[in-house]
Amino acid sequence: MTENDFILKSFNSNLEAGSVKWSSPSNIALVKYWGKREPQIPENPSISFTLSNCKTITEVTYTKKEGSDFSFDIYFEGEKNEAFKPKIQTFFERIEAYVPFLRDYHFKIETSNTFPHSSGIASSASGMSALALCLTSIEEYLGADYTSDYFLKKSSFLARLGSGSACRSVEGELVVWGQNESMESSDLYGIKFNGDLHSNFKNYQDTILLVDKGEKQVSSTLGHQLMHGHPFAKERFKQAHHHLAQLKAVFASGDLENFVKIVESEALTLHAMMMTSEPYFILMKPNTLEIINKIWTYRKATGSQVCFTLDAGANVHVLYPENEKDDVLQFIKRDLAVYCQNKQYLLDCVGKGAQLIKN
Ligand code: DP6
Repeated sequence: MTENDFILKSFNSNLEAGSVKWSSPSNIALVKYWGKREPQIPENPSISFTLSNCKTITEVTYTKKEGSDFSFDIYFEGEKNEAFKPKIQTFFERIEAYVPFLRDYHFKIETSNTFPHSSGIASSASGMSALALCLTSIEEYLGADYTSDYFLKKSSFLARLGSGSACRSVEGELVVWGQNESMESSDLYGIKFNGDLHSNFKNYQDTILLVDKGEKQVSSTLGHQLMHGHPFAKERFKQAHHHLAQLKAVFASGDLENFVKIVESEALTLHAMMMTSEPYFILMKPNTLEIINKIWTYRKATGSQVCFTLDAGANVHVLYPENEKDDVLQFIKRDLAVYCQNKQYLLDCVGKGAQLIKN
């Protein structure tokens, strides 16, 4: 499919008002998206586990209006929020060509997260995907007749234009984004991984250790830009393709040893890219390294297949198969929680994607 396939061609402009509500989860990348070009096209393919518990719930109420400006209000956890407005404004500008009724309505956007505010967890994936899904639903109320496949693709396509990783949150359990030779894929939207998946990966666990709950030191927008002209960019992009091909085989065979190697290498490469860009950043904290070392020691001592991955920050995602749940949780409580701010961590696992709450 091409960009043109996502333009809403005609709609019924008599609809006066209505509302719709979706919940959409966060996701954690196994192969990382880091580097993009206009318009939100990734420089390398990525794949992620969709999460289950960390979600954004968004209700959009639309009312017909006069005038040709964008008009919207955002309420975050019940309170009017001005800080999110520029991001939504940019999002509307980017998607206007595909969602031509945006200037015809006033939108009241009410949103909340299931995870604590300022936990250092990026809410752009869950937030932008939830909003995109609401807009695609509104297209249907305006008369568009979408198959469920097209509905998901269009929502993911719009979500991508809000935040790249958001396009991987619409569906579960594994979603790939970015053209590559190993898996069915597109640069324009996320596609559910449709290869063989060994039972080892069913209900995979992700415990998020909140090492640093502060504001992000480097916005992902800036981070992606740092890959332009980065001395190692070309090799890094190649590596992502290679890791994706390897993961495909791992998903089929259930080879957790290689899963661990690829996932940890991806996390460290992401940070290595940041440490070697201009300007350079260290986004890990001393406690991030303490946790990584404890995980390595535990794995060596017990034969466990627990591993870590990182986003563009200090928090650690601890990934492990469901059959290790009890043991790893004990390990986390006993040895890792002390490295978290206020000993806080969030229990999550792989989920099935977004859900319509009210239409
Ligand atoms: C490190 O999707 O937040 O989490 O497209 O600029 O909104 P924008 O970036 P964003 O980047 C996420 C980067 C990452 C890796 C990943 O999720 O693949």
